[in-house]
Amino acid sequence: MNILVTGGAGYIGSHTVAQLLRSQDQVVVYDNLSKGHRPAVPEGVPFVSGDIRDRKSLAKAFGDYHIDAVIHFAASSLVGESMERPSTAKREGASASAGFSTRSTARHKFSLTSTGLTIP
Ligand SMILES: NC(=O)c1ccc[n+]([C@@H]2O[C@H](COP(=O)([O-])OP(=O)(O)OC[C@H]3O[C@@H](n4cnc5c(N)ncnc54)[C@H](O)[C@@H]3O)[C@@H](O)[C@H]2O)c1
Repeated sequence: MNILVTGGAGYIGSHTVAQLLRSQDQVVVYDNLSKGHRPAVPEGVPFVSGDIRDRKSLAKAFGDYHIDAVIHFAASSLVGESMERPSTAKREGASASAGFSTRSTARHKFSLTSTGLTIP
């Protein structure tokens, strides 16, 4: 299965990528590196530098890599940020993730985790 891991250069995403590779899955990492680190992506794993709000870039990644499933970790996970700017953090996270999942789920399996995001 070809799996797109958004936020795959971050903490949880990079561990997930490592586990998926052990399961023989084909993995592609999609990350804007706002918080993640390029070296956290193992050598040989395709890396797409892009934002989940960038529809064109996402569509290209889905097409280029024949994606079957998405595991979505691309989000701001810092509690401090969401405490300082609660409405902004909520709006940015919710709209980005909700818009992204809506576009993805029609054709792809989709998994989302969040410690601070609620989508009504
Ligand atoms: N850290 C935990 O213990 C934990 C536990 C359960 C769930 N989660 C959830 O997992 C997700 C990731 O958490 P984390 O701790 O790995 O955070 P992290 O900051 O380490 O990783 C997030 C990654 O997403 C990328 N990113 C952020 N916004 C993006 C955007 N708009 N487009 C593309 N890439 C973007 C960042 O560059 C980063 O690599 C969050 O939703 C968090 O709530 C975290």
